[in-house]
Amino acid sequence: FPIKEPKEMSWSFAGPFGTYDKAQLQRGFQVYKEVCSACHSMHMVAFRTLEDLGYNEAQIKSLAAEYTIHDGPNDDGDMFDRPGKPSDYFPSPFPNEQAAAAGNGGAAPPDMSLLAKARGIERGFPQFIFDIFTQYAESGPDYIHSLLTGYDEQPPAGMVIPEGTHYNPYFNAGVSLKMPKPLSDDQVTYSDGSPQTVEQYSRDVSAFLMWAAEPHMEDRKKTGFRVVIFMLLFGGLMYLTKRKVWADVA
Ligand code: HEM
Repeated sequence: FPIKEPKEMSWSFAGPFGTYDKAQLQRGFQVYKEVCSACHSMHMVAFRTLEDLGYNEAQIKSLAAEYTIHDGPNDDGDMFDRPGKPSDYFPSPFPNEQAAAAGNGGAAPPDMSLLAKARGIERGFPQFIFDIFTQYAESGPDYIHSLLTGYDEQPPAGMVIPEGTHYNPYFNAGVSLKMPKPLSDDQVTYSDGSPQTVEQYSRDVSAFLMWAAEPHMEDRKKTGFRVVIFMLLFGGLMYLTKRKVWADVA
């Protein structure tokens, strides 16, 4: 049975001048916090980096304090629990990988820090050539969005779904996975009036995961653009210099 290609979405961060939409990242973070973080860790993202999303220091402090961090050893050699600080990283919902797998029918939910970069599609020749020029780097969020909105389709007749898995034609390791449909309409209450639909939640959390995986994307694109302009100018000057230096050589 064929695996479906993710739908190409239009993202604010696409293309050479793309930027993140902070309001969308905040909503996506809310979805991660209220839904995904029940199973998925994000151990490479520190609370302090949420500043990028537009939160101030006090908000980040109180947000971090909502989490319990397992720390230690202390002076007596014991481990202990304490409230989170901005310098801490998102804690895992499970004590270890074995417990995560055991709690999810044998498949540990993958860590979300780099998930938007780790998943995606590989487009073959000739499409990948165009992708280089259009900077198509959004196949990760496209994939996550399609996966999250792809649970409602019915399996084709005659297809046997292994027990404990859920049909999803976008799952790119084989059309059914251990993750149950995580989102439903009205599950997360948005304060900015955005639609409370699976479609909207999926877009927002995919954008948030892109930020988590590549928080410095805007700087990278800006620097890249400046470098290209510099190289063009420098190349032009070098060409003129060469013409002048060699002008008298027959
Ligand atoms: C796998 C996203 C919530 C359990 C995944 C994958 C993604 C994802 C992108 C990787 C699929 C792949 O390997 O290609 C999300 C998002 C969530 C969410 C964005 C929140 C909106 C949850 C929840 C649970 C869960 C609440 C637990 C009830 C799992 C498991 C897997 C998985 C067990 C591994 C599936 C397998 O390999 O068969 N999730 N997830 N996820 N997720 Fe989630």
